[in-house]
Amino acid sequence: MGLSRYSNSNALAVALTISCVIVASYAGNFHDDMDITFGGERAKILNGGQDLSLSLNQYSGSGFQSKHEYLFGRFDMQLRLVKGNSAGTVTTFYLSSKGAGHNEIDFEFLGNSSGNPYTIHTNVYSQGKGDKEQQFHLWFDPTAAFHTYTIIWNKQRIIFLIDNIPVRVFNNHEASGVPFPKSQPMRVYASLWNADDWATQGGRVKTDWTKAPFTASYRKFNANANKIGPNSKSTSSQNENQAWSTQGIDAAGRNRIRWVQKKHMVYDYCSDKKRFANGLPAECKRSRFH
Ligand SMILES: *[C@@H]1O[C@H](CO)[C@@H](O)[C@H](O)[C@H]1NC(C)=O
Repeated sequence: MGLSRYSNSNALAVALTISCVIVASYAGNFHDDMDITFGGERAKILNGGQDLSLSLNQYSGSGFQSKHEYLFGRFDMQLRLVKGNSAGTVTTFYLSSKGAGHNEIDFEFLGNSSGNPYTIHTNVYSQGKGDKEQQFHLWFDPTAAFHTYTIIWNKQRIIFLIDNIPVRVFNNHEASGVPFPKSQPMRVYASLWNADDWATQGGRVKTDWTKAPFTASYRKFNANANKIGPNSKSTSSQNENQAWSTQGIDAAGRNRIRWVQKKHMVYDYCSDKKRFANGLPAECKRSRFH
């Protein structure tokens, strides 16, 4: 009896250890993965690295970036956006390289006055050139709970997902002369800042500083990606077989994207003939998804 109790509790301890290891490797730790880049005390890593909160007041916003650079991968982050009157604020989660001709893959969350919907703004920059915006309203309240925002970046395409539902696919159209981000390593960035000159209803609705500080929360960052630089354990060859490295959109995914784009998309650069009066960008004509 005594012995079996002992061995049971031992088995339990082993089981607990294993599940902790799995959770830790999935969730990551903000102390290990990120550096605070601005805002000082406004950015806080909490609960032993499990949570990170950013805040914004009239003096400054705040932000962080990954310690590592990556070349291709799958990047997941859970976010809970600024509650209440978030007009004028912008919360971000994006990948970017540095320098002239940089590449960037963006999720930006444009706040709104109470009761009005956030706008999810996505963009892709290749060799310093963006102008590929798609915007969405959400099918849930992004301030009430955490939701998962994901960027998959491989050689064939970039996929934006929300709670694992693909909302946008930007295919590699290099064959048609459209530059695609593929040779510059990128870091992960996140920030909360004031953009009331343009963010909300075209800049008409300003930040209400009597409601400051504004706070957004991040957790469960996970990069399943090719780390670049010293101490990098994961290499391209190791990652060649990872699901993300060839991930595309199957029939079910195409149905979901169609649903999102039909019901929830509020802006698509490929439909903006006024803006591109001299002709839409090449990728707009090459495929339904861009
Ligand atoms: C804010 O709400 C208005 C009215 O519903 C909507 O048109 C707009 O897209 C929303 N988002 C932003 C960022 O202005």
